[in-house]
Amino acid sequence: MIEDHSRKSLSELWSLDGRAAVVTGGARGIGAATARRLAEAGANVVIADLDQSAAANTAVEIAGSSGRTIIGARLDVTDTASVSHVADLCVEQFGSLDVWVNNAGIFPTTGPAIDAADKFIDRLLETNVRGSYAGAREAAKRMSKGGVIVNLASTTGFRAAPGISAYVVSKHAVVGLTKSLALEFGPLDIRVVGVAPGPIDTPGVQDQLAPLKAAGLDVAKRMSQTLLGRAGQADDIARVIAFLATDMAAWVTGEVVVVDAGSLAG
Ligand code: NAI
Repeated sequence: MIEDHSRKSLSELWSLDGRAAVVTGGARGIGAATARRLAEAGANVVIADLDQSAAANTAVEIAGSSGRTIIGARLDVTDTASVSHVADLCVEQFGSLDVWVNNAGIFPTTGPAIDAADKFIDRLLETNVRGSYAGAREAAKRMSKGGVIVNLASTTGFRAAPGISAYVVSKHAVVGLTKSLALEFGPLDIRVVGVAPGPIDTPGVQDQLAPLKAAGLDVAKRMSQTLLGRAGQADDIARVIAFLATDMAAWVTGEVVVVDAGSLAG
């Protein structure tokens, strides 16, 4: 039966009460901020990350502040058995799997495309693309009553940037994956959506910028040069992901929302 969301109050539409979510790469950065907002909206959450102890610590912190059940688990998105295990864990612990956020991603320094090694390109694509594909597939198999899959794309999924070709390729692929899976999963009542952040101040980005900082570049100033005059924070992305995960966005699928304080605009 198709639900009539127009009869629900705003607070009902915003609520994820009784729903279960998995956030990949949820130990820190955008993933941790997303887990925090999903829990605040009422979801129980599995925080799944390559770094198991960081995932466990983040889970304890969010459980304490939200009062929800938050589990930290080890996940390697490049290993399908590991992805299936986390999806099963969510169903075993919470009785369902309703929201899956494909957030885990890597953005190692690349350099000129002409120098990129096959091994390097493979590692980027297997994490950012195949990892998201496998996450969406394993989640969809377990979303018997429908659900939402959110993919982390990037503004580089729409516009190229020099020196990061493999990353640009991977994020264009995530945009395509979002549209393609939305087409296939729509009839299963599973929405597939994406978010494309501009530069966001996260531990991963700080690691990347360390050499530039060491060379004297005022990185904080550079990142704050957006149309809104400030740098993006992880929660700027998490709030949009939370919106897309709720019934507020019940008629949104196959779309990637750009969240970049206008950087693609001009
Ligand atoms: P981050 O590097 O701060 O955090 C990423 C998390 O993913 C870490 O906890 C890491 O342990 C985990 N992870 C890495 N490989 C994994 C694997 N194979 N399996 C499971 N977990 C793994 O990253 P950040 O900045 O929070 O980015 C999150 C996502 O947002 C990524 O997909 C990134 O490409 C995307 N994004 C980030 C932007 C930014 O400026 N921070 C801009 C556009 C997109």
